[in-house]
Amino acid sequence: MNKTAKTLLAASLAVGLSACASSKTSAPKSYDLDFAKQKYTEQSLEVNGKAVKFRAFEGIVYVKNPVDTKYEIINIYVPEAYYNGGSVEGFTADTAPIFFPNQIGGYMPAEPGKPGLGGKGPGGAPDGSGNQTPNAALTALSKGYVVASPGARGRTAANGKAPAAIVDLKAAVRYPKANDNIMPGDANKIISNGTSAGGALSALLGATGNSKDYEVYLKALGAAEADDSIFAVSAYCPITDLDHADMAYEWQFNGVNDYQKMNITMLDYNVKRELVPGTLTAAEIALSDKLKPLYPAYINSLGLKDAQGRSLTLDNKGNGSFKNYVASFLAKSAQGQLDAGKDISSSKWLTVKNGKVTAVDFDAYAKAAGRQKTPPAFDGMDLSTGENQLFGNATTDKQHFTAFSMQNSTVKGATLADAQTVKVMNPLNYIGSGAVKIPQNWRIRVGTNDRDTSLAVSAMLAAKLQNSGYTVDYALPWGVPHSGDYDLDELFAWMKQVSK
Ligand code: DHB
Repeated sequence: MNKTAKTLLAASLAVGLSACASSKTSAPKSYDLDFAKQKYTEQSLEVNGKAVKFRAFEGIVYVKNPVDTKYEIINIYVPEAYYNGGSVEGFTADTAPIFFPNQIGGYMPAEPGKPGLGGKGPGGAPDGSGNQTPNAALTALSKGYVVASPGARGRTAANGKAPAAIVDLKAAVRYPKANDNIMPGDANKIISNGTSAGGALSALLGATGNSKDYEVYLKALGAAEADDSIFAVSAYCPITDLDHADMAYEWQFNGVNDYQKMNITMLDYNVKRELVPGTLTAAEIALSDKLKPLYPAYINSLGLKDAQGRSLTLDNKGNGSFKNYVASFLAKSAQGQLDAGKDISSSKWLTVKNGKVTAVDFDAYAKAAGRQKTPPAFDGMDLSTGENQLFGNATTDKQHFTAFSMQNSTVKGATLADAQTVKVMNPLNYIGSGAVKIPQNWRIRVGTNDRDTSLAVSAMLAAKLQNSGYTVDYALPWGVPHSGDYDLDELFAWMKQVSK
């Protein structure tokens, strides 16, 4: 029996059954992870004047023992054609890859996404402008992908501290894996997508497939006992390598003393971002001067190489082949603009001769891009950043997570997150370790106008992946700010190509 027939049978058996295993209120509820028991609605949305019909299985609790059923749920959408033995763009119920977009922003709690119009906001969420652009999930359905969008806990809740979000995403991956014989789509072809904190978690999900380090948490939640590796990673502007991101930021922005600081808050479960201008104080400049020289030793410890096998290093002033490597992606992006006939003469940090970019002044680029965070950018001395809250625990809302900020803390009684928690939040601890199952294909995008973290972070991640034998499509789209899902045609062309 093929998958479509199995699913149809399961769906007909499910009629009249509740989505939950039990309706008792006294004992803690245990949720049933059998997809066959899920109810669906039939929906239709228009893409380019054509109806995209699909079945929506929404709000499925993906672990047996959730701690938060608002977030530990997954929405699954299946092209209707797969219930009629049909195919969409060459995919069938058996072969369709599963697009796995998270909506996480700011390491906040996130509900699962839904297909819809008005895409292009962070994580493909509606941008509020009323535009009619299909978001990533709807685009995926129109192209024949099954969509599974996970919710996950976040930093504002005592039970959502690190590593809750990555544990939840792993549990959510296990759900289609455990149901692969009855669920349309190929659970061996899960393609994760996310932006910013969601991009970081997308990368972390890829880098830690089947790692034992998360097992204890997954067991406690009653996650399905299944493989949690994925097939491919798409990450937009990943805010990752958090424990080295302060030094990376000052490596890039030391000497840029004016800033436009982004305040991230949450209003009615929507992430809100606000820019507040300022100038670094003398004490902050002193901190920047202390952090910047720490980055070369870290970069040099990674033993990175470029595509030609040349070492990527930094000298004690922060100059060297790694800096040139980061700059080369800016040059490539600028060259793309020139080749497309665009005028980029206002970017004075570029040298252009006869239509070719011949040099990038990286320090002038940083100045032009502008600083957005005050040092330390991530592990705030006053415990004021989102990341401080991410690394809190059940009893302490905010903690440090680097030795530097712990030593320089301005908060009496401030504590340091435990080393294992910091470890399991960083993909760099897993790539190349041999102890995990990592996808071959990665796509990483960071706009040239993104200042939420240093460009060094994504460049280093790309190099580490490439050096470990993975295929990385890494680029810095010209003029693009901190955002994601802005190039869905290219994203889906890449997804199709890697899924073949
Ligand atoms: C996000 C942005 C940040 O600057 C940060 O430090 C963490 C997360 C975000 O947009 O998700």
